[in-house]
Amino acid sequence: MYFSKVLVVISALIVLAASKVVKVQNKRSNSLLVSVGGSEYTVAANSVVAVTLDDEWSGSISAIPVDAEVTDGPKTQIDFSLSTAEDSYSVSLLNGFNLPVKVIATGSTACTSSVCAANILRVCPTDSQVLNSTGTVVACQNSPLVMSNLCPLAVVDELTSIANVQKCTSAVGYLVLFV
Ligand SMILES: *[C@@H]1O[C@H](CO)[C@@H](O)[C@H](O)[C@H]1NC(C)=O
Repeated sequence: MYFSKVLVVISALIVLAASKVVKVQNKRSNSLLVSVGGSEYTVAANSVVAVTLDDEWSGSISAIPVDAEVTDGPKTQIDFSLSTAEDSYSVSLLNGFNLPVKVIATGSTACTSSVCAANILRVCPTDSQVLNSTGTVVACQNSPLVMSNLCPLAVVDELTSIANVQKCTSAVGYLVLFV
């Protein structure tokens, strides 16, 4: 009896230890459709969705407005490679930019945030713009120089991927803020 209770407690601890929580917060004025490793979540304006991930999870997070006309365009990508030893994460614009984002480690103050909070859409060169049918720029691609100027902490090419992939050994999870 006592022994089985101990076992239940121990296995509960193992389950707890084997996960990290990524909270996706939408600080924008419209709902977002967020993809976390291919699983989709609708996150209303000013809301948060918490996703529990295996602590050895690797994958990407991206988002588009729920009412987006262009769904397969370039997207700001948040790449995670979680590990019990050390997590790696970055904001990657290698596939383009559509939304500004901040990634902040939770449960630790020792880890550097990964940020691309500037609105690159406003300065996207004409030939790199992705427009919707009413002519609004909804994404930007293939502009590493412009992207790097506005978002010096983002991965835009091979060189920035060396400096701008953050490492963290002490986070219990991450907050991904679409701003
Ligand atoms: C084009 O994008 C803008 C900005 O997101 C949006 O307000 C507008 O409704 C979009 N047009 C269409 C036809 O979806």
